[in-house]
Amino acid sequence: MFKINDNYLKLPGSYLFSNIAGKVAAYQEAHPDRELIRLGIGDVTQPLAPRIIETLHEAVDEMGHADTFKGYAPDLGYEFLRNAIARQDYQERGCRIQADEIFISDGAKCDSGNIQEIFSVDNRIAVCDPVYPVYVDTNVMAGRAGTYDPGTETWSDVIYMPCTAENGFIPDFPTEVPDIIYLCIPNNPTGTTLTRSQLQDWVDYANNVGAVIIYDAAYEAYITEENVPHSIYECKGAETCAIELRSFSKNAGFTGTRLGFTVVPKALKCGEVTLHSLWARRHGTKYNGAPYIIQKAGFACYSDEGRAQIKDQVAYYMRNARTIKEGLGAAGFEVYGGVNAPYIWLKTPNRMSSWDFFDYLLDKVGIVGTPGSGFGPSGEGYFRLTAFGSYENTLKAMERFKNI
Ligand code: MLT
Repeated sequence: MFKINDNYLKLPGSYLFSNIAGKVAAYQEAHPDRELIRLGIGDVTQPLAPRIIETLHEAVDEMGHADTFKGYAPDLGYEFLRNAIARQDYQERGCRIQADEIFISDGAKCDSGNIQEIFSVDNRIAVCDPVYPVYVDTNVMAGRAGTYDPGTETWSDVIYMPCTAENGFIPDFPTEVPDIIYLCIPNNPTGTTLTRSQLQDWVDYANNVGAVIIYDAAYEAYITEENVPHSIYECKGAETCAIELRSFSKNAGFTGTRLGFTVVPKALKCGEVTLHSLWARRHGTKYNGAPYIIQKAGFACYSDEGRAQIKDQVAYYMRNARTIKEGLGAAGFEVYGGVNAPYIWLKTPNRMSSWDFFDYLLDKVGIVGTPGSGFGPSGEGYFRLTAFGSYENTLKAMERFKNI
């Protein structure tokens, strides 16, 4: 008789955003005339930039001719894209990342879930609390999280690093020494960041204790402040302790198109074994690469025209972020984030629980957000709004907030 991976059975409930989607769909079915404003999941709403669309068309045409047709992509991804990334995202910022340390994929969600496979199941992971749920859930699936305590909503073998208003959303070094540290900077969900020197402290810490940092930089395009690093490799010594995940979803609107990449420096080793060789082995064995037309579209983001167009798009969402931050501030809410990130993190009013506030907002004013407790126990009493809606809907949402 076959056996299942019963680690899956340990997971409480369904994935956060599936859960919310289910609740919203049920509400909409019961209230078909209600116009909902969706500021929950961080999904983009603006169309792909014109340069990207033109490139997609060109690439589709190439696929229709024998002499330009492309089959399987190279293991690491097309060199034209990896060269552009190495140069523009890293070398121009003074980071020594080379094209052959970059692995193209179909998005940072998959990479952030899959990367744990190259580590022993005995490793202790440390996560910020609240945290993007994929990091914890995938480690649960792998059997690395121990047992779940529904009372505290924590896993016995996971080291939690609370990030709340009290510590300015900056994680403290954990008292137990972790093997793998997940950091998402700018942060999802709190929208807060680490300065270059704060991140340097983490790099030094990881090198000292022999830990690896999985650094999720999916929101780096939203950084507006000078002292916030765009890449962990801006910090000295990061090549020996950090893997960086990047996404085209949030900076270029690829949530539905799917493209991302992971950087694994060759200097990152466990004894004599490079993590690069393990990830390359996994990539080659389990993955056949993001489609050529999508990688070509990603390449368009690095042209002068493409770069300018996606920068405008980010600015569009950041105007939403400012609108939400100022609107909620004026309405008397305690608000965080939204300066270097497309997420606004607010304290729920009148000590309401995160889920009670979710239900209240949905029912009273037709606004969908994300309950902070869905990201971890320290998210209780907080709520997340995304700046990825349309500007018109963002304004409308702020009007509605005035009425609660
Ligand atoms: C979020 O809303 O946290 C993100 O959109 C989810 C994701 O990127 O997978």
